[in-house]
Amino acid sequence: MRQKIVAGNWKMNNDLAQTEDLLGQLKNQWQENEGVRVIVAPAFTNLHHAFESLRKTSIDVAAQNMNENSEGAFTGEVSARMLTSIGVKTVIIGHSERRAIFRETDEVLAKKVNAALENDMEVIFCCGEELNERMAERHFEVVKSQLGKGIFQVSEAHWKKVVIAYEPVWAIGTGETASPEQAQEMHAFIRKTIAEKFGETLADDVSILYGGSVKPGNAQEIFAKEDVDGGLIGGASLKAEDFLAIVNAF
Ligand code: 13P
Repeated sequence: MRQKIVAGNWKMNNDLAQTEDLLGQLKNQWQENEGVRVIVAPAFTNLHHAFESLRKTSIDVAAQNMNENSEGAFTGEVSARMLTSIGVKTVIIGHSERRAIFRETDEVLAKKVNAALENDMEVIFCCGEELNERMAERHFEVVKSQLGKGIFQVSEAHWKKVVIAYEPVWAIGTGETASPEQAQEMHAFIRKTIAEKFGETLADDVSILYGGSVKPGNAQEIFAKEDVDGGLIGGASLKAEDFLAIVNAF
């Protein structure tokens, strides 16, 4: 279902005390913004605490990653069932940091997507080009390929549990944001690509988030674009005030 969503990807930040502190501030300062769904994605070690802490609010909790296997000898990994057993029903898959630093391929990501959906989880699937790919004007081709290989195996029935996040790698943590026009252009392209494969009705129903240096000062003009349904926020999600200002930018 197409929704307005603002999700905070905390990445590898915040120990338990810092997590408690940030969650406390979010809960204190948050006034339910009708129509905007809010999600936070703390590190694995803090997910259980976050879920319990936010239980009485409508803020959802997501994991930043998961393993594609259901169980077994995969030292250091976490499965979909482990996440759902603590109440976590949303997972970010294919973040560019997972792709680049941890060498996650399109094929592995497709398996992760399938494993999450089979466990009735919601997937926030990330895509986005690197700077050299945009300079070479290959950004549409790159994103189309990431979608085709990573998420287009999903059945029509499962698409209601899929959110797409477009995160141009050159805009992540750099302070450089895609212009609202660049974001809209790519989001419209992503929706068209989904429509070509699955039909317009389904494509119109998918939430497509923008990520990459979204701040309180630029969120409003990005979110105002027709095909931008919200944001996946990194750095600015670590400060309650900034994150909530972004939520309220809608
Ligand atoms: P920044 O907002 O810090 O650029 O990070 C974006 C991001 O990677 C969210 O997943």
